[in-house]
Amino acid sequence: MKQTSFLKNKMNKVLFFLLLCHHLLLQPEALSAATLPAIYVFGDSTVDVGNNNYLPDDAPKANFPPYGIDYWGQNSTGRFCNGFLVVDFIAMTMGLAASPPPFLSLSKAKRTPRRGVNFASAGSGILPTTGNDVIAMSTQIRDFEGVAADLALGTRTNNKKRVSASLNESLFFFSVGSNDLFAFAATLIPGNDTRMDEIVTPIIDEFKNQLKMLYGMGARKFAVAGTGLLGCIPAIRVLDPSYECNADLNYLSMHFKNATEALLEDLCISLHGFKYSFADAYEMSIRIDADLQEYGDHIYISELALVHGAMGRMLRIGEAKRRGPVLTQHHIL
Ligand SMILES: *[C@@H]1O[C@H](CO)[C@@H](O)[C@H](O)[C@H]1NC(C)=O
Ligand SMILES: *[C@@H]1O[C@H](CO)[C@@H](O)[C@H](O)[C@H]1NC(C)=O
Ligand SMILES: *[C@@H]1O[C@H](CO)[C@@H](O)[C@H](O)[C@H]1NC(C)=O
Ligand SMILES: *[C@@H]1O[C@H](CO)[C@@H](O)[C@H](O)[C@H]1NC(C)=O
Repeated sequence: MKQTSFLKNKMNKVLFFLLLCHHLLLQPEALSAATLPAIYVFGDSTVDVGNNNYLPDDAPKANFPPYGIDYWGQNSTGRFCNGFLVVDFIAMTMGLAASPPPFLSLSKAKRTPRRGVNFASAGSGILPTTGNDVIAMSTQIRDFEGVAADLALGTRTNNKKRVSASLNESLFFFSVGSNDLFAFAATLIPGNDTRMDEIVTPIIDEFKNQLKMLYGMGARKFAVAGTGLLGCIPAIRVLDPSYECNADLNYLSMHFKNATEALLEDLCISLHGFKYSFADAYEMSIRIDADLQEYGDHIYISELALVHGAMGRMLRIGEAKRRGPVLTQHHIL
């Protein structure tokens, strides 16, 4: 299919950016069913594929147009995006027709899809205090624990090894942290690194506990997307009369993504068999902005950028397309 090969080309580029650490190289050839039996996804709106559809009304929702206008069948699935999310590209590269289903779409009897589950919830963060009425990371992990237990039960008794083998070969994908940082943005003191550390350290400590918990359950292959140019998303830029990026928020994000990468390196050293790859969304955005000629052809950036939520309505900002986070397609915020 034409569209599929189009996507494949895009994927090679997307994955090229997930250049990852020496520990786990996420290149297309490494993403086959043989090497990656399943993918488990945790995080926020950057990777939510529809869990929030099942939450009460006050949770953030994206199951209506224009969300999904570039998705299969122009379906608004609950993805906060015009089209596909990075987890969709990864799943397609793994040869899957679709990215793993939202956890909340599964009935108790069918909680163990063979190729993985998506636990992500838009608006959520690492800290339990981040986001209201959404699925906090601690709950996402507990939900995974339930699925892992079902997987183990579903395996014939003398075949228990297969579950642990498949968990340790599976990919655990995280895209989280932005909402934690947004929650503290108002308490930043420009130029004060001490204050910044006070914000970042507890979030990183909590993330460390969460990753260790999953390691304890058998997870070994981790892929983590760092926070991007948070000060440049349309919802933040519209707060500035001249539509400039918020430099303080970008600086906080840089600090946080650096700390995230350092945490992964630490875990890699201290936990036997822990492998990771880190996607530096922050650097990617800067490089792409600096050289649209080089990258422009390869990255699908929608014409449509929308500001939603903060404004209480949707607003079309054509110019914002140059600033679209490129790790996904156009993340709509
Ligand atoms: C659209 O997406 C929803 C949620 O994923 C799904 O239940 C529905 O079947 C999809 N509709 C079409 C026409 O594909
Ligand atoms: C996963 O566990 C199985 C069985 O214990 C082992 O043979 C395999 O090497 C492990 N794979 C990884 C990536 O740790
Ligand atoms: C910087 O932040 C720290 C911690 O919040 C605070 O104690 C200190 O007074 C701040 N310094 C300045 C110059 O604002
Ligand atoms: C983050 O890491 C980059 C690259 O190592 C470095 O240039 C930058 O100064 C760091 N920034 C912060 C805030 O830690």
